This record gives sequence, C-alpha cells and structure tokens, in this order.
Amino acid sequence: MNQNSATNMTLPQASRFASDVDSLVAFITWGSVILFVLITMISLYFLWKYRRIGAPTFTSPISHNNQLEITWTLIPTVLVFIIFFWGFKSYLDMRVIPANSMELKVTGKKWFWAIDYPNGTNSVNEMVLPVNKPVKLLLSSSDVIHSFYIPAFRTKMDAVPNRYTTMSFEPTMTGTFDIFCAEYCGKSHSGMIGKARVVTESEYAKWLEEAESGGKMSPVEFGAKLYTSKACATCHSNDGTANTGPTWKGIYGAKHKMADGSEVVVDENYLRQSMLEPNAKVVAGYQPVMPTYQGVLKEKQIDALIAYIKTLK
Ligand code: CUA
Repeated sequence: MNQNSATNMTLPQASRFASDVDSLVAFITWGSVILFVLITMISLYFLWKYRRIGAPTFTSPISHNNQLEITWTLIPTVLVFIIFFWGFKSYLDMRVIPANSMELKVTGKKWFWAIDYPNGTNSVNEMVLPVNKPVKLLLSSSDVIHSFYIPAFRTKMDAVPNRYTTMSFEPTMTGTFDIFCAEYCGKSHSGMIGKARVVTESEYAKWLEEAESGGKMSPVEFGAKLYTSKACATCHSNDGTANTGPTWKGIYGAKHKMADGSEVVVDENYLRQSMLEPNAKVVAGYQPVMPTYQGVLKEKQIDALIAYIKTLK
C-alpha cells in the first residue's frame, strides 16, 4: 500500500473522495469527447449528403417539429442534472466536516507551511497524519494569499490572511504525498512545497513525541533535521550557496555588517534573536523577509538549531 507520488506516474487516490472526483472528471471529459466526435461526424455527413448536385433542390419547408424540440432539450437537461447532482454530492463530501475529525491548524507564510497539531506540537512543511482518520484543516495566512493543494487527496483551498478557511478529507492510504502552494505568492512560491505523510496510528504517536523534543537524537542531529523540517533550508543554504537569506556555512563567530551600518558578531544570542525577531537586525544586502519563528520553535529546538549551525564551518 506504500505509494509515493514523486515516483508514481499516475496520481494515487489517497483520500476517501478521490475516486469519486476522478469518476466525475472522467464522466464530463468522456461525455464531452463523445458528443464532440458525434456532432462533428454528423455535421460532416450532412455537409456531404446535402451538397449541391446540378440544379438546386429544396427540402420541404419544416417550421416546427415537437419531437425534435423535446429530444434536444431533454438530453442536455438530463446530462446537466446528472453532472449537477453528482457534483453537488461530491462537494458536500468535501465540505461537510465529520464530527470526529482531528483538527490541525495550517498557516501559510512566505514561504512555508506551519502546521499545528492538537497536542501543541508543530511542524513545518511536513503534515503527518494517521491513516483512515477524518481530518479538518483550519487554514489561514500570516501575509499574502496562499493555496493549500494536495493533488493525491484531490483537494485544494485558499489560505487567506485575517480569516479562516477549512478543508476536510480522510486519508485512506499510507505513503508520502506532495503538498503545493497553488497561488502565486512571491519570490519563493515555487519552493513552498511540503509533504503529507500518512502513517499508522502508532507511528503517528511516535512522530508526535519525536517532533517535539527530538527523541533520542543529539542536539546536532536534531538541529540538522529541523534545518529541513522547519524549512530553514528554503532560504538559508548550509554549503555557502547564496539564497534569499545568508548561508549558514561559517556564520557562527563571523562578523556581519547590518543594513543599518552596525556590525554584529554572530553568537548564540544573535542566532536566537534572528529566529524569533528576524527583522530586528538584518544583514546588509538582504531583504527583511524572514517570518518570525516565535511560537513555531520550542526552546529545545532553538538550542538544537544553534548546535547544528556551530558545526557548519
Ligand atoms: Cu504560497 Cu505560493
């Protein structure tokens, strides 16, 4: 049952309503193809059949035909009703949130997704979900409009600043599925990607524990994991490559020139402040675009990230 959308050519149907969405899309697509081919062929046939040969001939002057009128009204009406009621039923499946849903808070920020779990744990860009459990997402944005899109679940919803939107689904398959931002939101929109990892109930419980405190990992190992899992890697390289933010390679102990002309020696306190109040001291040549990690990083996680940064010499 393990599916990976990155290596799978066809998109897995990984949520309760995915196959219904696909069937309706197929019905509309194939219905359109069949009607298009049929109408084109009949038109071409009439073009040929009633072509002019010799002197003009005329068909009898028909002004009205009840049977024809009823036929070409009834067939499209029935088709439209099928599509409407089928679509409406599918829409309700997506919009009516089951009472036993697990509720996660998803916040779009330039340029990552912050996910808060019911027990207070949070993750960035990685949404871990127990299989066969209905989920309700409470979506919002802390800056511009983003759009939370999980193709394998056949679901997408805008994340809008200053209001909540909701999304509901039930993952039915374990595996890792892509999450995209489907609304252009600035420079690193294309990097605003995540993973929905659907696991068993017991793996989910284990993950919750490790995400919070690193489990048995050393601070450096935990920091290295947080570097990608908290999306630091989207803007800060760890190998000296230039990016939206300064590289972390060799940053600890270095002297940095700030946008206001002052100089700062990069130590533990400066690193900590840069995570929690990123725009207090901005390095010269960089834009003040980093979102605050206040409330996203726990104390132990800040310590681990600092420990990891110190190893990047
Ligand atoms: Cu967020 Cu595009």
